[in-house]
Amino acid sequence: MDPVINTFGLEPMSSTVSGPNVAATLAQYVSPHGTRAFIITDAGVNGAGVVKPITDALTTAGMKWQVFDQVSPNPTDLNVVAGVAAINKFGLDGTVVVLIGGGSVMDCGKYIALAAPNGVDHVGLAFAPELDANDRIDFSTLAPKFSASKPGLPTIAIPTTSGTASETNGAGLITDTSDPAHHRKLLFVNPLLRPRTILLDPTLTVGMPAKGTAACGMDVLTHAIEAHTSVKSNPYGDALALHAIRLVAKYLPIAVKNGADLEARANMQIASHLAGRAFSSGPQLGMVHALGHPISGQLHQAHGQTLATMLPHVMRFNRDVVAERYANVGEALGTEVDPDAAIAAVEKLSATVGTNRKLSELGATSDNIGALTQDALRDLTILTTPRYPSRGEVHELYAKAL
Ligand SMILES: [Fe+2]
Repeated sequence: MDPVINTFGLEPMSSTVSGPNVAATLAQYVSPHGTRAFIITDAGVNGAGVVKPITDALTTAGMKWQVFDQVSPNPTDLNVVAGVAAINKFGLDGTVVVLIGGGSVMDCGKYIALAAPNGVDHVGLAFAPELDANDRIDFSTLAPKFSASKPGLPTIAIPTTSGTASETNGAGLITDTSDPAHHRKLLFVNPLLRPRTILLDPTLTVGMPAKGTAACGMDVLTHAIEAHTSVKSNPYGDALALHAIRLVAKYLPIAVKNGADLEARANMQIASHLAGRAFSSGPQLGMVHALGHPISGQLHQAHGQTLATMLPHVMRFNRDVVAERYANVGEALGTEVDPDAAIAAVEKLSATVGTNRKLSELGATSDNIGALTQDALRDLTILTTPRYPSRGEVHELYAKAL
């Protein structure tokens, strides 16, 4: 892929403010976009006491606010129904949606911000593509059932995990539970949903348990590797991705071992953000995400863990077509400038932080592989993978991971 010169464009970025305790300055960033804050979070973040200091600061600033915390891990259409009802009750006029949480909160909150003004309370704004006769995405089935005629409400993002970097883009995933036998994760994209302001406050990530920290860190690593090896990679994304990999290699083991290490937390938060900007600048993602999403959707596993489980297998599958790129990854990880050394270093890092778990340890048996394969092939992140797989090859990758 190296001889290919990809066309790319750099769009204006969201205003980003990074530093300890910047979350408390939220009110000044709401004011340019509205007069009231509807805060979307989850029960875990709310219960951990992360939200209260922020709402206290809003109260001090004389700003009206309300908290909605009914977002599930791997958020669903049911969370959308509840969120849209709550924000309609609060009122949409002058409302800014503030997202405080990890990727699930960001994704669900962005969807609610778009759905509410459009009178939608279902997943019809997301893509649900089917496959053609060659098991590729059938573009004639790509358009969402409903299109948004109105822009979404303005959003502000305050991440509490260092993983998905959902704050860097206007996309997300919502699980459609309408078929109880087959929950499917659906992608939605709307550039206007990209948060107006991002507040990166590392103190909010300090309380995250080691297991979650590790899984989120492997999400960051995967974003960077997939952005760098995407068929739509570009030099801007490459620079961000490779530095994100350097930071992950240095700081993830420290953040997992000692969650109170603010330097490690701050650097992982920046790594997450850089990797998010990398893939959101055009490269998008790849097959690790395409294979990971169905494991989350169907087996209710943490996103980062599903990626950690699939990453080495997909890297081996892609190795020969992106060998030079993987050599760069090896260098950034601090090992040899060599593709096989890179794969070995990824496996070693995963073992160090405890995410080296087999697919069977995530609740899968060989009976699940058919349905997982079907959804992986229908996942839009597969479109930018450097070596497009057949159905049999996806099946085999899941079987190897089992
Ligand atoms: Fe991800």
